[in-house]
Amino acid sequence: MENEAHIDFAVIGHQDNWPSVQSIINGMRSGENEPLTVAQIKGTFSYIPPRSIFKMTAKSKTGKTVNGVYIETFIDPDELTPHFLRKNINKVNEAISVALKHKSKIIALGGFTSIVLEGNLSQFDTSSSKITTGNTLTSAYILKGVTDAILKLNKRLQDCNVLIIGATGDIGSACTHYLSSKVKGLLLNARNGRKLEAFAQQFTDTSAEIKWNTRLEELIPMADIIICVASSASIEIKDYKKQVVICDAGYPKNLDTKIEEGNGTFVFHGGMGTVNYGYDFKPDYREHFYNYPRPHIAHGCILEAVVLAFEGKYENFSSGKGNIKTESIDKIHELSVKHGVELAPFYNSKGLCEISLPKSSKG
Ligand SMILES: NC(=O)c1ccc[n+]([C@@H]2O[C@H](COP(=O)([O-])OP(=O)(O)OC[C@H]3O[C@@H](n4cnc5c(N)ncnc54)[C@H](OP(=O)(O)O)[C@@H]3O)[C@@H](O)[C@H]2O)c1
Repeated sequence: MENEAHIDFAVIGHQDNWPSVQSIINGMRSGENEPLTVAQIKGTFSYIPPRSIFKMTAKSKTGKTVNGVYIETFIDPDELTPHFLRKNINKVNEAISVALKHKSKIIALGGFTSIVLEGNLSQFDTSSSKITTGNTLTSAYILKGVTDAILKLNKRLQDCNVLIIGATGDIGSACTHYLSSKVKGLLLNARNGRKLEAFAQQFTDTSAEIKWNTRLEELIPMADIIICVASSASIEIKDYKKQVVICDAGYPKNLDTKIEEGNGTFVFHGGMGTVNYGYDFKPDYREHFYNYPRPHIAHGCILEAVVLAFEGKYENFSSGKGNIKTESIDKIHELSVKHGVELAPFYNSKGLCEISLPKSSKG
């Protein structure tokens, strides 16, 4: 295996929609082949075993360079549900074996791949290759994003009610803990009422007023900020305040298509960072894999492994569920900034976006 000994980090990923799959598959095939249609790809895609697709090099502000490899799981985008859990676990296990063969010093479990394992890494030998879900840096970018957005709206975090959709999840619980001493109120939502209630009970002594409800529509009208970290296509944001900041950080992403932006209402894709000093792919599949409105943007979960590699800090930094501490969020964000890996510019599915102040507050 080429450069086997020099892989600092591996990224295990998946696609969440067929147009992305189509772009990747056709991009990887020789230019002389007729492009395949989605219908042609659908029947065979998930039978492809996980494999490394390209090598990466990322550059730090400190001048350090780290080498990585991207491993695609070939999970079917239509099968990102609990119904296909066993099949998806097998895919992720195989992908981890590929990363271990590359002797990657740290492995990032991108997006859904950490969810299927429930962050449980105990079955893997992590004595030489460490594994991280990357959810701590993802949480840090989500929190930095909403804080920056609120400041731009000339509001203070301590005056805001924050709704967290998916509050009992790994990222949702990290954000809830982080914000519990910093905001006016926390509005917590998830589907499992018993789990949600038990989770909410932990915050009875905090300064923020806590409300929880499995019925999202009861909470939305009170929210100044909405953080969506649920893995669901069925979330409906209706009857929201005129000025609301919405951070859509879950998959699949579908919130901004249903919300009328402008005049103080602002929706952005959260949990994303930028490698300011750049990264390269070999072969150069960037337009197929990371086709964002600005170069060098990637998910916080992937960038956590890049930052840990820059730092030479090879450890299972984020693992399990509900273990992310506020101090760890601050720490990984500090390291990220040290290496020039920072919050991505605001964008949503329409492209880069700017916060526009409501008409009444313009001079
Ligand atoms: N931007 C990034 O870099 C990045 C990185 C990693 C992960 N992610 C995404 O972030 C999301 C959360 O990840 P995670 O690891 O925290 O997942 P997780 O631990 O599985 O948590 C998911 C949470 O969402 C809730 N939920 C699911 N469907 C819901 C619905 N229809 N309405 C309300 N709540 C719902 C779950 O509780 P109930 O089951 O009780 O409803 C749970 O609280 C995922 O979509 C993941 O792909 C983004």
